[in-house]
Amino acid sequence: MYDLRLAGILSTQITRYKFSGICMASLLNPTDENLNLLRNVLKSGGLVAVPTETVYGLAANAFDAEACARIFTAKGRPTNDPLICHIASLEVAESISSFNELSRKLARLFWPGPLTLILPKAKTVPDIVTAGLESVAIRCPMHSVFQQLISEIDFPLAAPSANPFAYISPTTATHVNENLGEHIDYILDGGPCELGLESTIIDARDESSPLLLRHGALSQEEIETTAGIRLIDKSSNITQGPSVAPGSALKHYSPKTGLTLSAAPIEEPAAVNPDTAYLLWKKPEGKNAENIFWLSASGSLTEAASRLYAALHEIDQLGYQQIIAQTFPEQGMGNAINDRLRRAAAK
Ligand code: TXA
Ligand code: MG
Repeated sequence: MYDLRLAGILSTQITRYKFSGICMASLLNPTDENLNLLRNVLKSGGLVAVPTETVYGLAANAFDAEACARIFTAKGRPTNDPLICHIASLEVAESISSFNELSRKLARLFWPGPLTLILPKAKTVPDIVTAGLESVAIRCPMHSVFQQLISEIDFPLAAPSANPFAYISPTTATHVNENLGEHIDYILDGGPCELGLESTIIDARDESSPLLLRHGALSQEEIETTAGIRLIDKSSNITQGPSVAPGSALKHYSPKTGLTLSAAPIEEPAAVNPDTAYLLWKKPEGKNAENIFWLSASGSLTEAASRLYAALHEIDQLGYQQIIAQTFPEQGMGNAINDRLRRAAAK
């Protein structure tokens, strides 16, 4: 089980301020019986929150436009922000889109895994899923419970992250229930998400200039080195309108507590302001005050990425007046973490 104390979050604090909202969804363990039930719920147009290795998704049958419309309502998400279609294999992806050589190469290298590809869409994908675009976003998750669920259904699952629009993405079934539970019937509990940050999104439709649309759980360096390509980073085109990445609103992934980014090192902050939660990369020396939250003892950026959202969820429940978060190094997962923190800090 994920140990919050390792992330610098004290369990006593969590109990004290525990969420007291209405939780109405049923949490189901991934037994054969439950998986069958959930497949039937999805077949008949229902919404199910599902675990993936990145974050929990709010899933519906991607071929059922009405069911997909309910996703937008449940999240309060604008309908001009398209959904990712989740599939079980490259073969299924080829049946709802068309691949060029580079996209196929990326899929073979990184699927199943935290990579989403933007591809020309087939007519079978309803317009509501793609927000009327000619392209569709496709991803093949590697979470074993997700794979079990999807391997025995004959439609893709349209699924955005299972959070209210613009709020922090969920990395546990409890996060989903606390924030979206009253709008959905079932949550499939697959435990805490291993990677904890959304998938990386690439548009390689133009093979000569593949675009990185969103930094995510697969680092730019890893993609470039493994595939032998150079990506054009379009991820910060966040205020330039809908053409490149329609859902990349500047304000996103935001806790309710106001967040400010600090490039300067944060030292002895507890003495400065006990009403502020300080979010650090590494564990500082010595005994840490209650309001210091750190994401990795060893300074691993991957570990820090996997704990970022859980830390923000917990801080949000603890009643601090503000969060000051440290900027991470611009390398590996640090790019994706900084991207999320910048958006969380946007007004
Ligand atoms: O890790 C993930 O990707 C998670 C899990 C659940 O799979 N999903 C996720 O979905 O993060 P969502 O909806 O929160 O973010 C998907 C992003 C949105 O910004 C959306 O606008 C963009 O992908 N997107 C979807 N279809 C697109 C398209 N055809 N062209 C460009 N961007 C697209
Ligand atoms: Mg999202």
